[in-house]
Amino acid sequence: MIYQIAVSSFADSDGDGRGDLRGIIGKLDYLNDGTEASLGVDAIWLTPINTSPLRDFGYDVADYRTIDPRFGTLEDLDELIAECHRRGMRVMMDLVLNHTSDEHPWFVESRSSRDNPRRDWYVWKDGRSPGKPPNDWLAVVEGSAWAYDETTGQYYYHAFLPFQPDLNWRNPEVRQEMLDVAEFWLGRGVDGFRLDLINFLYEDAALRDNPGRLGIRPYLAQRHVHDFSQPESLEVAQALRGLADGFGERALMGEVCTDTPDDCLAYLGDGTDRLHLSFYLDFIRQRWSATGFSRSVGWLEANLPPAAWPCYYLDNHDLPRSFTRLGAPGAEERRARVAAAMLLTLRGTPIIYYGQELGMARSRVPRQLMDDPVGIKFWPLRVGRDGSRTPMQWAPGPDAGFTDGTPWLPVDAMCARRNVATELAQPGSLLDWYRRLIRLRRATLALQTGSYRAIRAMPGGVYAYVREHGGKRAAVLLNFAARASEPELPADIWSNRSWTCALSTHTAEGEIRGPRLKLEPYEALILISG
Ligand code: NOJ
Repeated sequence: MIYQIAVSSFADSDGDGRGDLRGIIGKLDYLNDGTEASLGVDAIWLTPINTSPLRDFGYDVADYRTIDPRFGTLEDLDELIAECHRRGMRVMMDLVLNHTSDEHPWFVESRSSRDNPRRDWYVWKDGRSPGKPPNDWLAVVEGSAWAYDETTGQYYYHAFLPFQPDLNWRNPEVRQEMLDVAEFWLGRGVDGFRLDLINFLYEDAALRDNPGRLGIRPYLAQRHVHDFSQPESLEVAQALRGLADGFGERALMGEVCTDTPDDCLAYLGDGTDRLHLSFYLDFIRQRWSATGFSRSVGWLEANLPPAAWPCYYLDNHDLPRSFTRLGAPGAEERRARVAAAMLLTLRGTPIIYYGQELGMARSRVPRQLMDDPVGIKFWPLRVGRDGSRTPMQWAPGPDAGFTDGTPWLPVDAMCARRNVATELAQPGSLLDWYRRLIRLRRATLALQTGSYRAIRAMPGGVYAYVREHGGKRAAVLLNFAARASEPELPADIWSNRSWTCALSTHTAEGEIRGPRLKLEPYEALILISG
């Protein structure tokens, strides 16, 4: 189980209002102190900590081999790694290989003249005609993906924002340098990487136009056959795997940003030769629906190569928080419990985003306090990402126990009720539910590594599946509906075994008498047998 830490927002040790590595070190016992009192996290993933102007939350790197002083020092990272390892936790770093900040010295050189030795480190091209970009490619956030640079009269390519110019991976020096960067951090003891936009590294060599299609937004009205998911990026996944394997037990987790689930699979290869984990966006795009989630998981389960392993999450630093996104007025917390039970019992690696376990909701950050360039650019038309990045709520109070200074983003008002101190002291809190789910998962091999089989013929609104390992079974029944339900376990699953309720939002723990069950509205029920 991976816990994603948005470093700026987790814990501030020096009072500058922004989270840092020493802040995280101070909170490791909360994540895993080796006892059942803590959350029981296996690994943490840190959002980017490299030196950066932080104009996009660190996804705009200005030096890949140093740590931004606002987050700490290399020695702080060494200490964080050692302290995590001591507690049996791994540390994954975010690696942004596709683009740099426009303040990176490479780009400063590259844009200085057409014959600069670094010119070819980025993707430069003449316009199609005066005032017209080289082709029809669009940035993920909208508008042309090409920015005109006055100094040299050419355009540079940026898949994301204009201040994030894409590196030219077709230049062998770039490829080598970036692989060296990965090696540098692995050598430093980092246990793995989350690879930002891994399927965006290469573009079509001839920079051909994308063909059009019907779509409601300009970006969706293109078939993205030339701007991303090129086969050469898969070779990088393979090269990174070779590198990581050379260091022993390391893990690579790719942000494969695409609407095509086949691309997500491609980055896993046969399950042993490319990335260990690949993000499956179809899952997070689901609305609150038992059939939707069941279909999404079913597709992945049916199509994954036997040696590959799924990875699921409901929250991250880009998405509106699931507590709000999947919640219904008055039923947010009940739905959050069902969602947590699903996330933590599916076959695969679950990722929890900081504060999800507390029920942190989407925060409304006023326009003048926003930080996210996307939120600012599209305000008020599009919801920005700051609402999912507000300070971790450690304790009630104006600073949430997050900082002694002024927090870089405002603390959400819900902090008074939803915070670590209050929820730890409250049996039955959402945090307590997460802790119990994780504890059960740790204690139950069927839930950790067991096979997955959906249970068909369930009443509407119920998503149910069986996990099995070494003859032992766990059956998970999730009532997505606001009404009670009476599902029956099919005979081949019930199998006249003795079943016990191991954990439920409603049903008491203990023996289950027959295959005909009763689920309360929004009940999550986990049965164990064998
Ligand atoms: C994906 C990251 O998750 C997002 O936060 C970032 O803005 C873009 N990649 C660009 O790096």
